[in-house]
Amino acid sequence: MKVMVVGSGGREHALVWKFYQSERADKIYAAPGNDGLTELAEPVDIDMTDTTGLAKFARKNEIDLTVVGPEEPLVAGIVNEFQASGLKIFGPTREAAMLEGSKVFAKQILNKYNIPTADFEVFTDPSKAISYLKNIEYPRVIKAEGLAGGQGTKIVTSRKEAIQAVNRIMEDRIFGDAGERIVIENFLTGQEVSIMALTDGEILLPLAASRDHKPVFDGDEGPNTAGMGAYSPVPYLSQAEEKEIYRQIMHPTLKALQAEEINYQGVLYAGLILTSSGPKVLEFNARFGDPESQAVLPRLKDDLLAVIDEIVEGRLERKKLFWCSESAVCVVLAAGGYPLTYEEGDEISGLEKINRYDNLLVFHAGTRKIGDKFVTSGGRVLNLTILADGLFSAINQVYEHVEEIDFRDMHYRSDIGRSAVQELDPKHYSP
Ligand code: GLY
Repeated sequence: MKVMVVGSGGREHALVWKFYQSERADKIYAAPGNDGLTELAEPVDIDMTDTTGLAKFARKNEIDLTVVGPEEPLVAGIVNEFQASGLKIFGPTREAAMLEGSKVFAKQILNKYNIPTADFEVFTDPSKAISYLKNIEYPRVIKAEGLAGGQGTKIVTSRKEAIQAVNRIMEDRIFGDAGERIVIENFLTGQEVSIMALTDGEILLPLAASRDHKPVFDGDEGPNTAGMGAYSPVPYLSQAEEKEIYRQIMHPTLKALQAEEINYQGVLYAGLILTSSGPKVLEFNARFGDPESQAVLPRLKDDLLAVIDEIVEGRLERKKLFWCSESAVCVVLAAGGYPLTYEEGDEISGLEKINRYDNLLVFHAGTRKIGDKFVTSGGRVLNLTILADGLFSAINQVYEHVEEIDFRDMHYRSDIGRSAVQELDPKHYSP
């Protein structure tokens, strides 16, 4: 089978790596991919939001199945375009992807179908938002409605900060049209968890739970990024709690979409917080998480390409997926300045050495090859994932390898997975 993966980051490298292991994969294309995955997939030089160009390429090259990584092409309607041309594609339609594309839509669905989430208000008019900020308690959470590369959510601790956030989103339009409407919601406390499931619109096939860390600095400090690291499984999430999440959130969400006559096929990803009054939805994503996929897919024993093909063909029968018992930790190495402005073109050293380790996976994100050297070409540059017996061992091993990579102003979080280990067994924690 000829497969095309749409996207260019670490998640897409992990998908290509997983598909490459499938007996069904005769040829893999990555559109546009990155220079780190070219040994596994042929790059396609078409922008991932050029849905018409991609459909044309898929028709001409007789691609049997396209799998979409990022949210932008989904919200731009790539699935609608491919399906209208009779091409097989895995991912939700434009209408279904609104679960991620519009935070207002997602909150309205949650509210209408009594799925647990924080109480909220929606504003289209900045002056009404600012007057609402007068008589409320802090902290609160302010979210731009649309896609903002993982940076559209701000926790504000005072009215002053809240006014600034509203002005930056709605008046300065730092996220463009994505900030025409905002959601202001209650701040919830608890541990976060990412729950992803594959679905054909009827059956939910759970992926292993994972946890990502969005703030740029250790201790969840600093501005949000698209994700600085992840681990799976999640030691503080019991099987009973996970079952409860499916009962209270995942199944009701799929049913809610069915009730709205929205057929949702693809990855349903709920970003959750485990509060003292139960799990609540922070946000939905309509795709595989990044960097969660780089920690989850290496643990998957099943042939992911076969499973996705069954979903797209409408013949999904399996009820569960199988996972290796090892823990996976993924650490993102980022360019200096990320998530704000950062330089590109800095040479990366140490890759030849770490590519030789058997249990270390190196998923490229923002890299480019010049001659035989890799240089940086994005904010999130590399993802290092280790599979090991137990989270503690995986954390220690991955950070040994992180030390072997270098580029100018490289930065990373040094605490991925550590707070979970601390909860499990405080004596294993070394800040
Ligand atoms: N890691 C968060 C996301 O994929 O949006």
